[in-house]
Amino acid sequence: MSEQSSFKRTLVTTALPYANGPVHLGHLAGVYLPADIYVRFKRLKGEDILHVGGSDEHGVPITLTAEKEGVSPQVVVDRYHEQNFKAFEKCNISFDHYGRTSSPVHHKTAQEFFSDIEKTGVLVKKTEKHFFDEKAGHFLSDRYVTGTCPVCGNPDANGDQCEKCGTYLSATELIDPKSKVSGEVPVLKDTLHWYFPLGKFQQRLESYIDSHAKTWRQNVVNYSQTWLKQGLSDRAITRDLSWGIKVPLESEEARDKVLYVWFDAVLGYISSTKEWAALKGDYERWKTYWQSPDTRLIHFIGKDNVVFHTLMFPAILMAKNDATSEGYILAENVPSSEFMNFEGKKFSKSRNYAVYLGEFLETFPADTLRYTIAINYPENRDTDFSWKDFQNRTNGELADTLGNFVKRAVDFTNSKFQGEVPAECSDEDWKALGEEWHTNYQRYESAIEAFHIRDTAIAAMDFARFANRYLTESEPWKVLKTNPDQAAKTIAVCLNLCYTLAMAFFPVIPDTSRKILIMLGIGDRIPDEATPGINRWQKAFKPRLAKGHKLSGHSEILFKKIEDKDLEPELKKIEAMLAANAQTEAEQPSAKFEALKPNISFEDFSKVDLRVATVLECEAVPKTNKLLKLVLQLGPEKRQVLAGIAEFYKPDTLVGKNVVLVANLAPKKMRGLESQGMILAVEGNNGELNIVEPTGKNINGNIVR
Ligand code: MF3
Ligand code: ZN
Repeated sequence: MSEQSSFKRTLVTTALPYANGPVHLGHLAGVYLPADIYVRFKRLKGEDILHVGGSDEHGVPITLTAEKEGVSPQVVVDRYHEQNFKAFEKCNISFDHYGRTSSPVHHKTAQEFFSDIEKTGVLVKKTEKHFFDEKAGHFLSDRYVTGTCPVCGNPDANGDQCEKCGTYLSATELIDPKSKVSGEVPVLKDTLHWYFPLGKFQQRLESYIDSHAKTWRQNVVNYSQTWLKQGLSDRAITRDLSWGIKVPLESEEARDKVLYVWFDAVLGYISSTKEWAALKGDYERWKTYWQSPDTRLIHFIGKDNVVFHTLMFPAILMAKNDATSEGYILAENVPSSEFMNFEGKKFSKSRNYAVYLGEFLETFPADTLRYTIAINYPENRDTDFSWKDFQNRTNGELADTLGNFVKRAVDFTNSKFQGEVPAECSDEDWKALGEEWHTNYQRYESAIEAFHIRDTAIAAMDFARFANRYLTESEPWKVLKTNPDQAAKTIAVCLNLCYTLAMAFFPVIPDTSRKILIMLGIGDRIPDEATPGINRWQKAFKPRLAKGHKLSGHSEILFKKIEDKDLEPELKKIEAMLAANAQTEAEQPSAKFEALKPNISFEDFSKVDLRVATVLECEAVPKTNKLLKLVLQLGPEKRQVLAGIAEFYKPDTLVGKNVVLVANLAPKKMRGLESQGMILAVEGNNGELNIVEPTGKNINGNIVR
């Protein structure tokens, strides 16, 4: 089956990880492995495909890490760029180029985008009040300010987002703000910034998203449309920072300003392609990938990066095209993943709850990880990586099914047939394998072309299951005594099955595929890069090894089984991580039993008007992961209330419920919406909120005392 399309080549980009820490298995699962599997398959088909990525080396997370460690940001990015690049290499993520946003080519690219767009006059300059640290002598971007969350009261909220309730904030919304640099109370000071007028691109972005609404993943479409429905507004694309790409304007007002990290980071894909082309000695070739309508552009990302890739980046490219008519293309698809958890809990860099890729590969081979991750690919929902599952997959599927089949077929050939393919595997023999084998070929291909990575891995293993069963049921070791020709035929078929398996598994577990090909004596056909015009995938599904072909004589165990004792150190590490986290939690007494507040008089208490209200409507508030907007019936009147409980309740499930409302709390604006009161909830031990549900019939509007 070959898919009909007007595309001549594909450009795959993978989100640039911040060079701010080591990549962990969650990153691998969401972005890099699925991309690599897709890319390797296309290469197998001989298609023209390029995979570019690199390190995101700007932005506040990096300067914060540098300050914490007392080193320069350069030291931090050098360290993690190197470390992550090596880990990817060890994992066989086959980038055509892995760049970094600190490179001169990238600085030039990002500055060119800014100035070309700026020249058209489309950018908006605005002076706004931002926090300034008088002691440190510079402005504080939102991340550099901490304070109390106006939504949930968390005393350690960040200026850009409250980690506890998930609300996106701007630093000026914090109660009791403090500078993270000096600990001082910051002052508000005027500062001028350049804004990108996203709203001007609203219609073009709407039709862009609409035109892909049927093919893109639902979460990607929904997320983008939620933003569009809200109406797009101006976004600042400059910052008052010393680390980053200088705003390329001569004027005094541009001094000490850098481009906003997201404006520069997405352009890193272009810079990386330019660097690749330059290294190939054909610099202009980068344009073929970025400026030809017959290039299929695919962005692999995690779900937290969606709108940057479906709205922001396309708008930047549109603005650049408006300015210079270069004809930059937009993404054809944005396969965004959900998250992979680790042993039932979220990976967390800040809490150091993670398995880092480089570390993992010091102990276990890349292919065992690649297979387990692929089969748990978080396509439409969050999934989990657990050591037990890793062990079961490795032992039961990779070792007992795939490895065992290949070794049995090869060893039998070596011992009984002098290491030669003992018979012809004819087209009829191949056909006689039956429908299951043949339909699986299409299943595999449609899955991988549609980015269904988990289904791809399952289909690959189904090939192996089929082959294993075929060998077991044919019993050539028995048949050999009574009908040697038939046994020879069975083995000839099995060796050809081995070949197909090597090719089908190549995108997922390339090291193993190479080992199989070497055992089969065709190691020179290892498909490392695409050979234009040669479709190895198509050839992989026909008998390949003719009678008399000599195997290499080499035979090896493809997968070493993982014993319980091999996992003991890993399980100990988890215990230690959890204990360390529990420790930090215990050190904050508020997490256990919060200190009681000072006494108040009965009179004070009676000022609070607590009432029973009933939920009429409930929906999620866009742009926050945690806030719900409720419409309540309170006696004769209706109230709109915002509550930070979206994580714990699906909106629908609340409709019809009675809640306790603080009915005379002064109204307050959050996210531009008015909250007319507050509903009561009990905080659980893991931070979850359970709304207080009063019992009793016909109690709407009644007083709670
Ligand atoms: N560094 C960002 C992150 O880790 C992702 C950047 S994606 C890119 O969330 F498009 F900007 F490259
Ligand atoms: Zn909060």
